[in-house]
Amino acid sequence: MDLNLKVWRQKNATEKGALKDYAIKEVSPDSSFLEMLDLLNDQLIESGEDPVAFDHDCREGICGSCSLYVNGEAHGPSRAITTCQLHMRSFKDGDTIYIEPFRAKAFPVIKDLVVDRSSFDRIQQAGGFISVNTSGNTQDANALPIPKADADKAFDAATCIGCGACVATCKNASAMLFVSAKVSQFSLLPQGKVEAKSRALNMVHQMDLEGFGNCTNTGACEVECPKGISLENIARLNREFLGATITEG
Ligand code: SF4
Ligand code: FES
Repeated sequence: MDLNLKVWRQKNATEKGALKDYAIKEVSPDSSFLEMLDLLNDQLIESGEDPVAFDHDCREGICGSCSLYVNGEAHGPSRAITTCQLHMRSFKDGDTIYIEPFRAKAFPVIKDLVVDRSSFDRIQQAGGFISVNTSGNTQDANALPIPKADADKAFDAATCIGCGACVATCKNASAMLFVSAKVSQFSLLPQGKVEAKSRALNMVHQMDLEGFGNCTNTGACEVECPKGISLENIARLNREFLGATITEG
């Protein structure tokens, strides 16, 4: 496949960026999208140009590092996959492909296609954990009976990989789907109940401090989420937050 790429190039966080055209030839339809970018970078390095900076790690849909806007959609045109799971057979020979970084005030561009998502880390640090006895006498988690339906919902919420596609897709750049997944994975389980109130209050407070927008229930986040995190989690977070505000706020 021969393709025309329009890639966002930006030297650093302070300089203005722009889309730059690149022609790339003989791309295998079986290669992944990131392998296609590797090929482009080989070409750029050979011609003495600066390679395109982009985030990646596991390349199997687990780590949440790859964060590209491809033809105007987070993680590209397919549903329920990350950019690293996108394959070139999803495109046609001669296609023009726009490749941009995730855009949100709370995700500033560091270079080219790489954005700073440490705001997510700070939200996690504000409450996305449980405190357990690690003295060696820790209770076996399996000793606590948990209804299967709750265990399944908690597990589904825990599949959020923190990629940020929900934020990049939302017209308000809201992080509610991410935060709701991180709150839900604990709030549905007995181990998460102890700190449930402070968790909801602190994570939402940190989310607001980081400059994410408000949720207006458009649902775009759910559509573009590679892990199928449900809007049901946002409803749960709203209930948790409201309850915590009334009793602790
Ligand atoms: S909710 Fe979905 S889109 Fe948002 S960070 Fe988690 S996995 Fe990514
Ligand atoms: S590189 Fe890990 S999810 Fe894409």
